Amino acid sequence: MTGDMIARAQAVLRSNDRGGYTVPTDRLYPFQWNWDSGFVAMGFSTFDEGRGFAEIETLLRCQWPDGLVPQIVFHAPSDDYFPGPEVWGTGRLPPTSGITQPPILATAVRRMLDHATDRTAAEARAGALYPSLHASHRWWHAARDPAATGLVATLHPWETGMDNSPAWDAALARVPTATRAAIRRRDTAHIDAGMRPRGAEYQRFIHLVELYRDCGWQPAAMLARTPFRVADVGTNAILLRAERDLAALAARFGRPAETAEIAARIARLERGLARLWSPAHGVFLSRDLIAGAPIAVATSAGLLPLFGQAATPAQVAAMVATLHRWESMVAHPVPSTAPDDLRFEPQRYWRGPVWAIVNWMIAEGLAASGEPALAASLHAATRALIAAGGFSEYFDPRDGAGIGGGTFSWTAAILLLLDAGAR
Ligand code: DGY
Repeated sequence: MTGDMIARAQAVLRSNDRGGYTVPTDRLYPFQWNWDSGFVAMGFSTFDEGRGFAEIETLLRCQWPDGLVPQIVFHAPSDDYFPGPEVWGTGRLPPTSGITQPPILATAVRRMLDHATDRTAAEARAGALYPSLHASHRWWHAARDPAATGLVATLHPWETGMDNSPAWDAALARVPTATRAAIRRRDTAHIDAGMRPRGAEYQRFIHLVELYRDCGWQPAAMLARTPFRVADVGTNAILLRAERDLAALAARFGRPAETAEIAARIARLERGLARLWSPAHGVFLSRDLIAGAPIAVATSAGLLPLFGQAATPAQVAAMVATLHRWESMVAHPVPSTAPDDLRFEPQRYWRGPVWAIVNWMIAEGLAASGEPALAASLHAATRALIAAGGFSEYFDPRDGAGIGGGTFSWTAAILLLLDAGAR
């Protein structure tokens, strides 16, 4: 990796830094996003450990009293994004959205602690963050799996982080398109509309926001009234991984009873994820909790149980075969939807493009599952994509073109993590 690329990746993070928090990219996403900040923190910590911790400290200062870590914190007003705080109406200060995103924060904090050169400072900052991290995991289970089924529910495609994945098509079709707010999309002023979610999807996204606002953002009411309730395999796998990392933090900073509490949640999630395996698809599948049925769409999220270390050796082997099969159909891994699925669209956001963060999580999982060579080749493929396509939001799996937003923070962060891993 060239020193120039490292310097450019660091410059992307510095230029997107708004003072204690980092925007995913200028204009398109002008606020702080929850899971973006987890990756950004890890990226920053490769060259500025203090700034890495600050990213998560800023986000967790905006955690709700019940433990929810919001998807968006609107630190400063901007007209570049819709829906803004007035549509969410959560009543928080600073304003936040009222839903969450995949829980990567405990994983980020553990990693920053384990790699810190200033051990004393890192111990102090990780220790101070630990109670908030634990509160956020407790929130996931209490608010989103009150019946202790072993799978947490996500109630909005935005919560999955993979907004317009074809995995959500059928569940989202149940959501009415009617909205009270006039939809003033800003994303398509910044980005080619062919690379973004479609209009009807946006109407349903906003319908859900208004429904939850009517529920007063109360988790029980939201769970009961929503027409969109899925067990997202990505979120559950990331949560399982985060619980494992939280357990390591608890051993340093927690009370003994918390270790047992986390271990029980890990065992429950392991049982839940095991139920999502699909031998026919060679990946894990999300589940529609309202229809009570698996969602038969193979996506890159279905490989994330590797990251959660939830797969048996036979499942790892089957997912390796799936990866090879997908790679034989597109030039650049890992496409976000199986390329032989009719819903695969190589340039439309989460319906086909390659995302560096997903590649990194899959590679981490492969390395931990006895597949170091494949992990290394996915690292190399991801570095090559970024080298050729720039710090783009996502990449076309056919020709590697960088598409979506440019100078994207989490893509820069992944480049830095790949470099740090190679050193
Ligand atoms: C979007 O694309 O606007 C979503 O908010 C992402 O979280």
